[in-house]
Amino acid sequence: MNKLPINASSQCMTWQVRIRTKLALLIAMAASPTGAAGLDAQVLAGSCVNCHGPEGRSPGAIPPIAGLAEDALKAKLIAFKSETPPAGTTIMNRLAKGYSDAQIADLARYYARMKPAAAVSAGAKP
Ligand code: HEC
Repeated sequence: MNKLPINASSQCMTWQVRIRTKLALLIAMAASPTGAAGLDAQVLAGSCVNCHGPEGRSPGAIPPIAGLAEDALKAKLIAFKSETPPAGTTIMNRLAKGYSDAQIADLARYYARMKPAAAVSAGAKP
């Protein structure tokens, strides 16, 4: 007759812990900014940093984009990408064409979650 290893119950516990850890990892991955576009939104946003700053709070004349409503950000980027960008557009019409609609949606979600410049300068925690 097969004897159970002495530490069978503790091995059982180890497996439970491992499964829980894996589940927690899966849940964390599902909540990560990787969206429909396949690329991490942070990677996509890397090219926005030059002009809009690392946290979307563009210093200078370029409009800040952190903390704008997700729908508004998406609508603006789609408008830039369209054949009839808003009057006065200088560069975003050309840039927006480089992103798929799914990537634009991810970028909008990414910047909408950031604290707007006004909240930061008012002393709110970033
Ligand atoms: C070369 C500089 C530059 C880069 C890079 C750039 N932007 Fe812009 N962005 C601008 C300028 C300038 C405007 C004002 C509109 C215009 O003149 O094109 C603007 C406007 C915007 C607006 C509209 C803001 C408002 O309130 O009207 C959004 C949204 C935006 N950019 C998002 C992005 C995202 C997302 C990226 C990265 C994918 C990005 N921008 C990369 C320069 C840049």
